[in-house]
Amino acid sequence: MFDKIYNNKKVLITGHTGFKGKWLTLWLSIMGAQVYGYSNEKKYFSNIFFNKKIININGDISDFFKLKKLIKKVKPDFIFHFAAQALVSESYLSPHKTWISNVMGTVNLLESCKNIKKKLCLILITSDKAYRNIEKNSGYKETDELNGNDPYSASKSSADIAIQSYFKSIFNKKKNIKGAITRAGNVIGGGDLSKDRIIPDFYKAYLNKQKLIIKNPSSTRPWQFVLEPLSGYLLLGKLLYQNKINNYEAYNFGPKVNYNFRVVDLIKEIQNNNITLKFKLTNKKNKFKEAKLLKLNSNKARTKLKWNSVLTFKETIKFTIEWYKGLIQGKNNKEMKKLSIFQIEEYYRKAKKLGLDWTK
Ligand SMILES: NC(=O)c1ccc[n+]([C@@H]2O[C@H](COP(=O)([O-])OP(=O)(O)OC[C@H]3O[C@@H](n4cnc5c(N)ncnc54)[C@H](O)[C@@H]3O)[C@@H](O)[C@H]2O)c1
Repeated sequence: MFDKIYNNKKVLITGHTGFKGKWLTLWLSIMGAQVYGYSNEKKYFSNIFFNKKIININGDISDFFKLKKLIKKVKPDFIFHFAAQALVSESYLSPHKTWISNVMGTVNLLESCKNIKKKLCLILITSDKAYRNIEKNSGYKETDELNGNDPYSASKSSADIAIQSYFKSIFNKKKNIKGAITRAGNVIGGGDLSKDRIIPDFYKAYLNKQKLIIKNPSSTRPWQFVLEPLSGYLLLGKLLYQNKINNYEAYNFGPKVNYNFRVVDLIKEIQNNNITLKFKLTNKKNKFKEAKLLKLNSNKARTKLKWNSVLTFKETIKFTIEWYKGLIQGKNNKEMKKLSIFQIEEYYRKAKKLGLDWTK
């Protein structure tokens, strides 16, 4: 897969202990990459996703000198930048920390790469929330305005603009630095325990035999399985490395526009997986304002990168619930690692059946 481009390559992942970072670390390890991970905390489930070969560096993305020194020393072939304060609710409580991590953290990373002489591909993750949300039904395109409202969304819009500025005015003079911005929708899957996210909330309520309180049951989100955008990020890295796409562009990664589901649909589908869940729907206003409708238009990735999503909504929930069921049934770390690797392999098999280019 990915033309074996990642085999024996040095890949730095910032935020590798987070939800997306852990899955990418595992996937890259399977493909033979030497992964370096830079994160400020060792989060849950690391033992499931990491092996002894991974080089873990504990550090803050706001520590410019540490990050710069690391990049100079490692000389990575690829950097996937995930590190961020990634929760909207937390951004209301800690706006300053959110801005420092998300905006200055990104600027620190860009600045640290400025004088690298070796070929380097940068995959920079912002968010669908970076777009100015006007509850648009046709989905946001890459050319739409970036202007988030809450501190998280605004910090992601700002990080995105900072990246574009580095692309247009600093990196464009250096042939060795390739780069792309990615804006993906809400991801779900195993391995997440973050607060105020629907799947971890379900798991915690189920485990503690509590009622799951569902705020805003009719809110719609472009949910996708965690491996869907990751396949897009890996594909982007490969195509940049092979000089097969234009440098310095942005790509959305989300399900098809007509494929959006409400919170209540997600809950119903969880129950279709032999889970008896006690829950209570409430339309009580959320403490923190979040957009009701969020849709992404990913046609650019579909046409230019030949990327596509692989799983149906039903399969997305099935993969997700299967993973948490493993934990509930008491599987140990080794068995959970086997299950996680199996899910990557199964995802790959389904993508291959669909004839997706990246599976070659
Ligand atoms: N999860 C989603 O649904 C989603 C949707 C769109 C975009 N994103 C973006 O994707 C990226 C990864 O999201 P996630 O869900 O894996 O997040 P997460 O919260 O699970 O993980 C965040 C990671 O960043 C690290 N981190 C946070 N602040 C840091 C700091 N100051 N210094 C160093 N490391 C720091 C954490 O240790 C962790 O490894 C983020 O940039 C997020 O904004 C996520």
